[in-house]
Amino acid sequence: MENTQLLELANKYGSPLYVYDTDKIESQYNRLTSAFSSVKNLKLNYAVKALSNINILKFFKNLGAGLDTVSYQEVQLGLTTGIDPKKIIYTPNGVSLTEIEEVAKLGVQINIDNLSILESFGQKHPEIPVCVRINPHIMAGGNSKISVGHIDSKFGISIHQVPHIKRVVENTKMNINGIHMHTGSDILDIDTFLRATEILFDVAKQFENIDFIDFGSGFKVPYKEGDISTDIEQLGVQLSERFNEFCVEYGKDITLMFEPGKFLVSEAGVFLAKVNVVKQTTSTVFAHVDSGFNHLVRPMMYNSHHHITNISNPAGRDRYYSVVGYICETDTFASNRRISEISEEDVLCFHNAGAYCFSMASNYNSRYLPAEVMIVDGKDYLIRKRQTIKDILHNQEVVEISSKKKKEAVTA
Ligand SMILES: Cc1ncc(COP(=O)(O)O)c(C=O)c1O
Repeated sequence: MENTQLLELANKYGSPLYVYDTDKIESQYNRLTSAFSSVKNLKLNYAVKALSNINILKFFKNLGAGLDTVSYQEVQLGLTTGIDPKKIIYTPNGVSLTEIEEVAKLGVQINIDNLSILESFGQKHPEIPVCVRINPHIMAGGNSKISVGHIDSKFGISIHQVPHIKRVVENTKMNINGIHMHTGSDILDIDTFLRATEILFDVAKQFENIDFIDFGSGFKVPYKEGDISTDIEQLGVQLSERFNEFCVEYGKDITLMFEPGKFLVSEAGVFLAKVNVVKQTTSTVFAHVDSGFNHLVRPMMYNSHHHITNISNPAGRDRYYSVVGYICETDTFASNRRISEISEEDVLCFHNAGAYCFSMASNYNSRYLPAEVMIVDGKDYLIRKRQTIKDILHNQEVVEISSKKKKEAVTA
């Protein structure tokens, strides 16, 4: 997306604004499918949590992707696209048996990550095949908050508890049709994937009716120029070869699944925010934008890096700025970052804003959620209107407390 087009969009739709480029989404999707083209049955389930606008979900459905979901609500969003429920996998963590049963009623593939619910579900619904999420006890991921496959993690059933899974299957007569893992996000080293893969193969061999192995996701994308990222093509060559060998060993062409979020949408999105104030202090120059961690929480939550450019003055002389928001707490997007000279009202562009940005946004400080725009074949479409005060008030009930009651309350 060119600076001039982005500036036009900021003028047309206002700021702050999320913009998604579907060409980039499609090229990432094609990159992944080509990397694993030697596998007979490949299925990519887009991780809805990364960016859940229903137009984005529909775009993935049209590309032929399935959907990876973590809540009943994500399943419902997915189903609005008209996708076959069988193309949705539901991988919740620590939800109630009732929610899992509600999702199962919709015909979605269930993935269970604890023994207790596995047993209860199997006792009540032995006829519904279930996938199990395995914790391979591997430390992987860009930081502790997104490392989820290690021994102390709350996710998955420990590889040491596979005999327990087998006992549940024996007792309930339920059927395990898939094996799943997801060890973390921002995994750079492909050996991490390959090590975990061998662990999953060992688990899969212990079940007779496996239809698929889901390797989760966690591919690292570049966040700035020259940044390192997971070598998808190399992973494709090595993992496909081992997978094809495993299919022969297992005696069946099972399906290889992934459920990427970041890899598919991170680089496709940008976040545009206008500079309200340039504040020079004795030590720092702050550029205060008309947003904050309410709209883009990743820098404050994970210390994640978002490259920032000044699209109103791209050719200006570089200076050092701390880019901050308008929230009543520290909300720093970037500290002492080199950016071309910023004036008030300039529009800053935050890159890698497709994944876990809008989907983690909130109404903190009672600010409106930003609008979202999707670009298809160069044309812009508004896919979510900016909120208004009506949205903030929606569902709030005004309770009339009589003055007598008020008096009693004060006395008490
Ligand atoms: C179970 C599961 N699958 C897939 C993903 C997507 O990971 P990524 O965005 O790194 O591709 C996540 C991310 O949290 C996850 O928890």
